[in-house]
Amino acid sequence: MNKKVTISDLLAARQRGQKIVAVSCYDYTTARLVAQTGVEMILVGDSASQVILGHETTLPVTMDFMVTITAAVRRAAPNVCLVADMPFLSYQTCTADAVRNAGRFFQEAGVQIVKVEVTAAHLDVVKAISDSGMAVMAHIGIRPQRIAKLGKLKAEGTTSELAAELVELSRQMVGAGADALLLEGTAREVSKIVTETSPVPVISCGSGPDCDGQILVIADILGLSGGAMPKFAKSFAQLDGLTVQAVADYAAQVRQGRYPSDEHCYHIKPGQLDKLRHILGDLT
Ligand code: KIV
Repeated sequence: MNKKVTISDLLAARQRGQKIVAVSCYDYTTARLVAQTGVEMILVGDSASQVILGHETTLPVTMDFMVTITAAVRRAAPNVCLVADMPFLSYQTCTADAVRNAGRFFQEAGVQIVKVEVTAAHLDVVKAISDSGMAVMAHIGIRPQRIAKLGKLKAEGTTSELAAELVELSRQMVGAGADALLLEGTAREVSKIVTETSPVPVISCGSGPDCDGQILVIADILGLSGGAMPKFAKSFAQLDGLTVQAVADYAAQVRQGRYPSDEHCYHIKPGQLDKLRHILGDLT
């Protein structure tokens, strides 16, 4: 894809009924490959906390870490619509922090959208970021940054009361300036209503097929999660096994003296070895 995908392209795709494909990924090497597939969007998600750093929750990742990896993804994927996740405590403290931290992603990492996990308490955050001229995606449904309050994450919008609250929250977010919505782990029927009534693109993460687009975490897509995946995720390859096999083959060849062979070696220039021996002989 030669032209950068913009937020208006996402809106146009929604209007044409063309599904938006998004991937959550976190590093240069992987993003380079993902970009070759022509997906519209890469999110540098705070799931990097678990996938890259091995934490149990998304809470430990910091702004500096997120900005660094997001800039790396941008270098690998100059033309995708790049979205960065605002990490825990980068926007909950006050709207000034939210605007400053959102701005870092735009200035230092070249993103086009920032994503914020929201409750009704964050309407002012979405409005402040939007009023500052930055595009913002409101993440509703399962919000992993609330794990400390919830104890465990479970599907959202599964009763009529909770579903009505979720639909209302999505409406309020758009009113506050959200340019896109992300629904995580939300009942399919409710996601459909949100999508049908939303004026902005709605991306599903485990919220069924009726949204404008889908997102999955790259480790799950590639089968690199050791089988530990949410119900909604799907692997399209099994790279866990291939990776273990490749490293085991490398280890075996090193131990057996089969790697490296001469084809992997640099050589001194012709005629230089005799001169070297002479120099060394002179020295010793
Ligand atoms: O952090 C992340 O990768 C996300 C997606 C799973 C939506 O928020």
